[in-house]
Amino acid sequence: MSLLKLLIFHPILMLSAFTGTAHGYYTYTMYDCVYSTSDYSDMVYLNSYSFNQVVDLQFNSSVGKYVGYTEQGVKFAENFNKDPAIMQQQKAEVDRFCRHNAQIWDSAVRDKSVKPKITLRSARQAGGSRPAVLVCSAYEFYPKKIKVSWLRDGKEMTSDVTSTMEMADGNWFYQIHSELEYTPKSGEKISCMVEHASFSKPMITDWDPSLPEGERNKIAIGASGLVLGIIIAAAGLIYYKKKLILIPECLFTLRSNSPPCW
Ligand SMILES: *[C@@H]1O[C@H](CO)[C@@H](O)[C@H](O)[C@H]1NC(C)=O
Repeated sequence: MSLLKLLIFHPILMLSAFTGTAHGYYTYTMYDCVYSTSDYSDMVYLNSYSFNQVVDLQFNSSVGKYVGYTEQGVKFAENFNKDPAIMQQQKAEVDRFCRHNAQIWDSAVRDKSVKPKITLRSARQAGGSRPAVLVCSAYEFYPKKIKVSWLRDGKEMTSDVTSTMEMADGNWFYQIHSELEYTPKSGEKISCMVEHASFSKPMITDWDPSLPEGERNKIAIGASGLVLGIIIAAAGLIYYKKKLILIPECLFTLRSNSPPCW
């Protein structure tokens, strides 16, 4: 349920020193703010120095000092930790940088979530030994992070579930589709559960095993057509009969025992 709550942002400073060969070296410093509560009480500030993919040293605001992880990093950490100006500045970053920016980022991005439109449909009905297939889709949501899962009588089903990746619509919105293959049992309840930052609790859509809307519409259109046809036929028949009776010549011919005029 704590989906999307872990937001990390890291402006990265990068320096590349190329050696003239096809290969290069990559040294970078990262500033991370890690938190999972909306009041930022668990905010942790990290400042890491890395070379290629190896972290040499890192300041962790929960620890309150730099810790070296490589021979070189240990030396740097010792020197940084001895410098009161650096330490004072680093210890202030969790407030000055993280809590301050988290407010700006959350109101500009995280809090601008858009609820997904959820549809649940049958892609294949069960027949013989073939299982049925249901598709649960979520459309036009933001941000990207989402979780779609299936429940049978409230318990999560994990087998025979295939999901697409979140797909970008190209307009900041995303869509995702999840398929469930299952053998229907009477009395059970199949549901699709969607978890997204825009919901305060998981959104559960129950599958209605009665005829899907598309089928219901076809039957309704067919039935309306049949009723309309019967009405028109009946009206035509009545009109036809009345016309015979109301034509004076016919009435006359009928009376005079000559052959009828139809
Ligand atoms: C930061 O330090 C705390 C306390 O030691 C630890 O629990 C946490 O995992 C550290 N964070 C990282 C990203 O290393």
